[in-house]
Amino acid sequence: MASADTTAPPKFNAVSFIKVFFDLPAQLEEELPELMDGLETLGCHVEPNLSDAWANVYFQADRSDEAERFLRRLEARRIVGTRIDGIEPRDWMGAFRSGVRPFAVGDRWWIDPHPDTPTDAPAGRHRLAIEPRMAFGSGTHESTQLILELMESIPFAERSVLDVGTGSGILSLAALHLGACRAVAFDIDADAIWVARQTARLNIARETVEFFAGPIEALSGCRFDVVLCNMVPMSFLPLLSQIRCRLNEQAIAVVSGVLCDQGPWVVKALSENEFDIIEERRKGEWTALVATRRFHEVEELQ
Ligand SMILES: C[S@@+](CC[C@H](N)C(=O)[O-])C[C@H]1O[C@@H](n2cnc3c(N)ncnc32)[C@H](O)[C@@H]1O
Repeated sequence: MASADTTAPPKFNAVSFIKVFFDLPAQLEEELPELMDGLETLGCHVEPNLSDAWANVYFQADRSDEAERFLRRLEARRIVGTRIDGIEPRDWMGAFRSGVRPFAVGDRWWIDPHPDTPTDAPAGRHRLAIEPRMAFGSGTHESTQLILELMESIPFAERSVLDVGTGSGILSLAALHLGACRAVAFDIDADAIWVARQTARLNIARETVEFFAGPIEALSGCRFDVVLCNMVPMSFLPLLSQIRCRLNEQAIAVVSGVLCDQGPWVVKALSENEFDIIEERRKGEWTALVATRRFHEVEELQ
């Protein structure tokens, strides 16, 4: 008779992922990483349930052998309620899109996720048609909302804008609505730039944002009046000196993507790079900053 170890794992056909579901007693919660250790999992989801919790651990569809190994570890810990399922392929993005309704951000924005069935922006608001796609910047995240809100009180008319890590392109489009004369936007993710170009076409008759996929070094020798950057500090801070020397006198930097407890660290880095903080705003666990570039002399472009 075949032992449990040599039993062929079940085959899951036409599924995207395999999920192992189980009850997770509170005293075993901290052991979950150890239970998953060394297995090719895709991640886990733990949901509190009265005093205990339940959990799902996910595997690639063709790794039912790994899912079985995990099940055996659960059994060895006498964890009950285990179940192994295949997850049917699903259009997750489509499901997300159909669930999200147009919404207001700050005092001046109206984010419309449904370009096929557009809604008019309420009076006094600019409509940004942003169809959720595989690029960050649908407008639902606090870090994007913070920067959009801070932009409302910045004078954009006739000013040029550099949008660092543009994602969906949402910030450049907002800047153009506020009167910016030029927007250059880039991202190291080429897929994001594809999305941003599609998004720009939804919003403006002609492409007025100059998008490119690549690093900051690919920028030509022009300077800007406003820089917009919603990126985690680990990605943003290494670019700071290069951003600084691409800014004009009196330029404004709007920086988001900073967790509140990272705020002092980012303020210090900005100050050391000759920026003066003029405003800070928080939302949930996120903070965003507006700073002006101190100016002594025009620096050589790096
Ligand atoms: C949090 S998203 C922001 C998207 C959009 N600007 C917004 O505010 O919603 C950060 C973006 O920065 C891009 N990124 C990360 N590191 C970068 C770098 N060194 N240079 C350019 N883009 C970068 C990512 O690919 C991502 O699209």
